[in-house]
Amino acid sequence: MKKKSVGFASGIGFILAAAGSAVGLGNLWAFPYKTSANGGAAFVLMYIICVLFIGVVAMISEIFIGRRAQANPITAYKKANKNMGFFGLILIAVPFIITCYYGVLGGYTLRFAISSFSSVDASMVGSDLIAFSTNRIIPVVCTFIFISISAFIILGGVKDGIEKSSKILMPSLFVILIFLVIYCLNLGDGVVEGLKYYLYPDFSQISFRSVLVAMGQAFFSLSLGMGAMMVYGSYTGKEINILKSTAMICIFDTLVALLAGLTIFPAVFAMDLQDSRLSGIVLMFVTLPAVFSKMGFMGKIIGFLFFFMVAIAAITSVISLLEVVTQFFIQKFKISRKKAAMIPAMLCLVISIPIAYSLGDFGIAEVGGLNAFGFDFLTFLDEITNAVLMPVAAFVACITVGWVIGAKKATEEIEADGTTKLGWFKPIFQIMVCYITPLFILIVEIMGIYTSVKANPNYWWIVGFAYGLIALCAIVYFAFLKNKNTGTNADEID
Ligand code: PHE
Repeated sequence: MKKKSVGFASGIGFILAAAGSAVGLGNLWAFPYKTSANGGAAFVLMYIICVLFIGVVAMISEIFIGRRAQANPITAYKKANKNMGFFGLILIAVPFIITCYYGVLGGYTLRFAISSFSSVDASMVGSDLIAFSTNRIIPVVCTFIFISISAFIILGGVKDGIEKSSKILMPSLFVILIFLVIYCLNLGDGVVEGLKYYLYPDFSQISFRSVLVAMGQAFFSLSLGMGAMMVYGSYTGKEINILKSTAMICIFDTLVALLAGLTIFPAVFAMDLQDSRLSGIVLMFVTLPAVFSKMGFMGKIIGFLFFFMVAIAAITSVISLLEVVTQFFIQKFKISRKKAAMIPAMLCLVISIPIAYSLGDFGIAEVGGLNAFGFDFLTFLDEITNAVLMPVAAFVACITVGWVIGAKKATEEIEADGTTKLGWFKPIFQIMVCYITPLFILIVEIMGIYTSVKANPNYWWIVGFAYGLIALCAIVYFAFLKNKNTGTNADEID
């Protein structure tokens, strides 16, 4: 067996793959309705501040930690400090959990892409979603197909699988999005009201709670705090300008999120469906299909393109999540990429079955069924990862760069590649990574938990599970991994 060199072949390949990870359901679906519900342009402003102050700094930190180690997150953290390796394990556990539920939603997008060709009366799409989501087989099959496509791409390797597919999928996604924006903005009556609903600035809505929402959204959307950027960073070399790449990923991600709202709301208002629910699962899988079905024949094409685009976005995101787990399996257990990708993919599939059932029965049809303390499994896991694990992981990444490695040394190392010039941003980065970003995350995290628990005491379970998982990662790490070789990218075999 010969060792092979793994990594992205080009800077643009890396940027597209990282953008593929970032652009996902978070942008095309969650961002638009969170914006409209939290003050429109005022929320966009807060979101951009979060991206600038937290997103950019955390992303540079993650890419840098990965790149300097050329290895999986555990080895990467070990390199900074041996006792910190367990944070790497969290960064591998979180993507695994997310894949399990993200895959279910990905399956939904595939199903709705296909079903956009069949005719369902606009008033009936609600029951269509219920029939689909409570079915015992079809959602599972859709999830299976969705995860299999993602796993298949990963089998091709970093360069020939992830990078190549991103180079095709990301430009396609963007072209479809632009087409949809132009189409939806020209639907006539209602477009302006739709835009107003989406973006009309309401500064009175700026509150602690909405800053929280903005920060959580920025994390999720930029794929921060879950290993993805660290792992993709580990596949880059000195030729990649970390600062410029980060800027491009953040700009592209934010642009796609903004544009998504320019398709959804004008279309909803133009088709006179503004009285339907305009958030959550219902927006995506009831209101929008109803919008498309009211567009007549063109609606079939627009509907298909829309869900196809969302499916592409979700696939490139799941690829990055699965790759985190795959990379670790390859390097720790010295197995082939094929095996290393199939094992987590299969496990995710099995775990996704109860999640799909719970979402259908308990979450959507609300007929009871599998749930965790009054949350459907998807919401429960989503909260565990988004509200606790991701902020904690991003916090640790900043502390590692700012204090463990040391901000000064870190910026020197970043610039030592000869490609990245931090310039005027250097002192700003040093201060932010040491103080501002971690503090911001900490405050928002504490206040976020506080407000959530106050609103629903069962939220303690979520917090408890999340910290329990962190403790479990620590135990596993110190018992089995700390003094063992956890591998590097050089361990990948053909
Ligand atoms: N960023 C993706 C989205 O916006 C989700 C994701 C998170 C993907 C973390 C990979 C890693 O939907």
